Amino acid sequence: MSSLGIKRVAVLGAGTMGHGIAEVFAMAGFEVNLMDISDDILRNALNRIRDSLERLSRRGGELRESVDLIMSRIHTTTKVSDAVKDIDFLVEAVPENADLKKNIFREADQHAPPHAIFASNTSTIPITELSEATSRRERFIGMHFMNPPPLMKLVEITRGKYTSDETVNITVQLTRILNKEPVVVNKDVPGFIVNRVLFRVMLEACREVTQEGVKIIDLDAMARNVLGLPMGPFELLDYIGLDTSLFIVKAMTERGFKAHPCPLLEDLVSKGKLGVKSGEGFYKYPGPGQYVKPRILPEQGLELDPVKLMAPAINELAWLVREGVATVDDIDKSVKLGLNYPWGGLSEFADEAGIDNIVDALTQLRSASGWEEYEPDPLLISYVKEGRLGRKSGRGGFREYPPEVEFRKYDEVMLRIDPPSAWIILNKPDKLNVLTPRMADEIVNALRSVEDDPRIRVVVITGSGRAFCAGADINQFQNATPMQMFKAMRHYHSMTLEIEYYTKPVIAAINGYALGGGLEIAMACDIRVASEDALMGQPEINLGIIPGAGGTQRLTRLTNLGISKELILTGKQVSAKAALEYGIVNRVVPKHALEYEVMRWVKELASKPPLTLMLAKYAINYGYEAPIWSALSNEASLFGVAISTKDAQEGVRAFLEKRRPRFTGE
Ligand code: COA
Repeated sequence: MSSLGIKRVAVLGAGTMGHGIAEVFAMAGFEVNLMDISDDILRNALNRIRDSLERLSRRGGELRESVDLIMSRIHTTTKVSDAVKDIDFLVEAVPENADLKKNIFREADQHAPPHAIFASNTSTIPITELSEATSRRERFIGMHFMNPPPLMKLVEITRGKYTSDETVNITVQLTRILNKEPVVVNKDVPGFIVNRVLFRVMLEACREVTQEGVKIIDLDAMARNVLGLPMGPFELLDYIGLDTSLFIVKAMTERGFKAHPCPLLEDLVSKGKLGVKSGEGFYKYPGPGQYVKPRILPEQGLELDPVKLMAPAINELAWLVREGVATVDDIDKSVKLGLNYPWGGLSEFADEAGIDNIVDALTQLRSASGWEEYEPDPLLISYVKEGRLGRKSGRGGFREYPPEVEFRKYDEVMLRIDPPSAWIILNKPDKLNVLTPRMADEIVNALRSVEDDPRIRVVVITGSGRAFCAGADINQFQNATPMQMFKAMRHYHSMTLEIEYYTKPVIAAINGYALGGGLEIAMACDIRVASEDALMGQPEINLGIIPGAGGTQRLTRLTNLGISKELILTGKQVSAKAALEYGIVNRVVPKHALEYEVMRWVKELASKPPLTLMLAKYAINYGYEAPIWSALSNEASLFGVAISTKDAQEGVRAFLEKRRPRFTGE
């Protein structure tokens, strides 16, 4: 049948996984001997396979043959000896019990032709140990399908101690013939790739609930709303089954996966609350087996820390890579296909969030929990030492970046072109990025230099080191004349107006002090995201001067007369949290999550029609300063301009055709 010389396969076990695996083989044209212990189970399995095939056939495109023809390739038996006698390949999918599996393999080994390869679909038992029950250890391999096999693309192929290269190659090719994506797990580590990564996230989620009092629904909301995961950790645990999850964690930890158990899981399982299947787990369902997605509001969970939740999984990625268990590409592929994670996989998440930030989050977790598994992996530490921090340094930890990430150096600022964003980095860290007329001009020049670059949809302004910007350089005030100052302020005003008039959205990523001129730059931006340790204020009064780069006006517009006077007349600094309450900033996030949060804004804004973003920004900024009739008239005109764009036609058509719009900026 296939070029591999594999024609007939045995699938031992016709339960949840076994029947699905049999279906996948039959769909790819293989003759399948499906075995289980009773005719009832087999009959039920055939019904489920037929159901599933009929559903696939109704969806169209996926079945090349008729359901009957595919079904005709599946032959059932209750005897191992019958199932294996004329096969070329075998997949075992009986319950996760080592003795049971070994007995079946032993029996199969006696009756199967010597050339046949044996694969186990186990997710918890060492492949090496199982292979030792047979006389064909080099032709023995792990082949872990994801549930449900007909829909999930990923197959983890695990080498045991004795598995030959030829067996690995054949299994990889066979997996491709099944129309699945293989990843090779080079060492027989507990949990392979997917479960190790998955349970790092689950167990951290559980720790945050038990140790920090985070609400289950909020954590799931953050996973969905902020990280963009298809399901929150607790939703997914309910879906997998809490008993099954507990079993997997126990099996992994018993075999050396360093982790602390989740008391919530143990507690619920002991009460018979097993998740969706029993009608209740972390959430309540209408009845046993009746899944309803927990209701989560779009703004829920935004205050939780996405980098902290994912940091242990990134640590796991580092461990897997350093131990040579799998390649970065294969691990990325595993989480994308096996867990439906967004991004280009974990490595992309790590490089976007910043490897230094991941290490920071892990270090905090390690000291807060005292748990050894949170010790940052030496690989991550070495990346930080080498300056391989992710996209921001143009060199990823886990991957190099293509030349699209480009740095342009000015005297006092640095411009990083990183489509779809460009980052203006105020770059005098030793002097806390103090503002000078030259810096103001360089900000303007940097903005202009990317204005016509269609790849750049959003500009971010941030500071290097521990400050965003500690205000105007106080040295310039010494012995300054009124006229000199009048001119200096002109530079500052043209810079802040340039930001306000700029044709693309500008985000201030407030990474530390934003004082005086620093806060004034940030307030001219469209969106402000602050690190929770940032301090903000207009301290000029303490120098005997007043804000001169728009502070007396923009602070009032963002907050109100009272707060603005409080801050300007006292010169006091306020925390990011207070700034959020006052309406000065849009979001506050933990320091190590700032870059990730800003990238989220970048991606969101970059997905919008760029010309329309510009028009909206103009309508708001102009209208805020104008009498309402004039402002409304301007709004109506800009609406007219918006409707004339191709993007408006596309947006409206896409809505009516129920698809995602593809905006081109025309
Ligand atoms: N103008 C000139 N230099 C400044 C500055 C400013 N606005 N803000 C900070 N610096 C310099 C400091 O003089 C110091 O330089 P040095 O190392 O040569 O002595 C360096 O930046 C680091 O600042 P330092 O004061 O040592 O850091 P800190 O953490 O102790 O304090 C601030 C940080 C921001 C609270 C403090 O620097 C400060 O109050 N700065 C002035 C803020 C201000 O008034 N801005 C409005 C100006 S109109």
